[in-house]
Formats: sequence, C-alpha cells, structure tokens
Amino acid sequence: MKVAIIGSGNVGKALAKSATQAGHKVTLASRSPEKAREAAKSTNAHAADSTKDAVKDAELVVLAVPADKVDEVVGVLAPELDGKVIIDVTNRVDMKDPGKTLDGSSMSEHIQKKAPQAHVVKAFNYAFASKMADPKVDGKRLDGFVAGDDEQAKQKTLQFVESIGFRPIDAGPLAMARALEGMASLNIILQLKNSWPWQNGWKLVGPPEED
Ligand SMILES: NC(=O)c1ccc[n+]([C@@H]2O[C@H](COP(=O)([O-])OP(=O)(O)OC[C@H]3O[C@@H](n4cnc5c(N)ncnc54)[C@H](OP(=O)(O)O)[C@@H]3O)[C@@H](O)[C@H]2O)c1
Repeated sequence: MKVAIIGSGNVGKALAKSATQAGHKVTLASRSPEKAREAAKSTNAHAADSTKDAVKDAELVVLAVPADKVDEVVGVLAPELDGKVIIDVTNRVDMKDPGKTLDGSSMSEHIQKKAPQAHVVKAFNYAFASKMADPKVDGKRLDGFVAGDDEQAKQKTLQFVESIGFRPIDAGPLAMARALEGMASLNIILQLKNSWPWQNGWKLVGPPEED
C-alpha cells in the first residue's frame, strides 16, 4: 500500500520501519524537510518536502504528531484528506491529572469533525513506538486494535496492521477510540508508577487462541 506518515519522530520512524519491511511504499513528512529526509533514510522510506506532497497519492495517511498539533496539521491538509483513510495514532497525555484527558471524548472523533470527508480510524496509539517497530512479545503477536465507522477504511487498516506484525482486531466504531486512548494512558501510567521498562503491550488472552 502507499502510506504517508505525517511526523518523523518516535512513532513516524517506528511505523515507517515496520511498514517498509512489510513491503509498503512509505512517504514521510514533518515540519522540517531535513528531519523527514533523515528519518526516511534510516527507515528505507521516501521523504516529501511538505505534508501536502506526502498525502497526494497515499491510500493511508498516518497522523503521528503531538495531539496539540493535530488541528494545525489537519487544517493545512484539509481538502487533500477528502476520501482518504486517516490512521490516528495520537494520544493526549496529562500524567499529573489523567482525568483531564479521560473526559469521554477522543482525538479521533475530533479529527473526524475537522476532516468530515475523510475516513478516520484509530490504531496503534495503545502501543509504544518500540512495539510498533517490532510488535511481538515472547514470540506472540501483540493485539492491533482498529476502531472506525467506515467499514472499508477499517478493513484496509486491519490489513495494514496485520502486515506489519500485529494480530488484527476490529474494535468497533470510532467512538471506541475513547477506550483505546484510555488504554494508552493506563499503559503509560503503569510504566511510570512501577518504573517498568516501556516494553509492555496489549494482548487479550482466551479464545480465539492463535499461534
Ligand atoms: N512515542 C510513543 O511511544 C507513542 C506511542 C503511541 C502514540 N504516540 C502518540 O503519537 C504521536 C507522535 O508521538 P512521537 O513520540 O512520535 O512524537 P515526536 O517524537 O515528538 O514526533 C512528533 C513529530 O510530529 C511532527 N510535527 C509536529 N508539528 C507538526 C506540524 N505542524 N506539521 C507536521 N509535522 C509536525 C514533528 O516534526 P519535526 O520532526 O519536523 O519537528 C515530529 O516529527 C503523539 O500524539 C503521541 O502521543 C506516541
């Protein structure tokens, strides 16, 4: 698939690495074209000089930018995003007062309102970047949940999620992004509170068993 990744930080690079390894054609863009070029070089991806150039031919557009930059990024891209699948990996993080972000809303639903002609899905946000690059623990695939309202967009994203090594799981409508964002907060808090090494990922146990 042709995949555009907006953001060439921890997540952008991790997903670019696993996606190019899986044979996808990946184009990276960020604020700084130099940083995008560096990230592309280290992940076998291509770099675009602007976010608009990156999304032009893309079938999947991954938003891997800080949550407080989403409005700016989507604002610049708005008409280009019409009809595209947007994979939202963003999380709002407030570790001092987690209740502020666990407020019954989600980034994905917010993005869908900002880009009403796009098909927004939530995926990957519950995984740490290290696990997006290598989504296995003890030889078992981590679960790759995907929430979204558009069935075709969700199926395409589930294929992508599986192609890079997660066990694909349909998590229901876009409103379930609220739960997936809560899972991300929980995993971050667990690492901080227990001084764990940021290596845990989500996997449901019980049927259907696999591998
Ligand atoms: N890190 C994780 O393990 C993890 C896991 C799950 C979800 N997330 C979420 O994923 C998102 C990205 O996290 P990250 O750790 O990759 O952050 P990061 O390392 O800080 O990277 C953020 C990227 O966003 C780009 N960016 C910022 N403003 C932009 C704009 N206006 N236009 C285009 N690009 C812009 C930056 O561009 P420049 O490089 O040019 O400065 C940078 O490449 C966040 O919402 C985070 O909560 C992170």
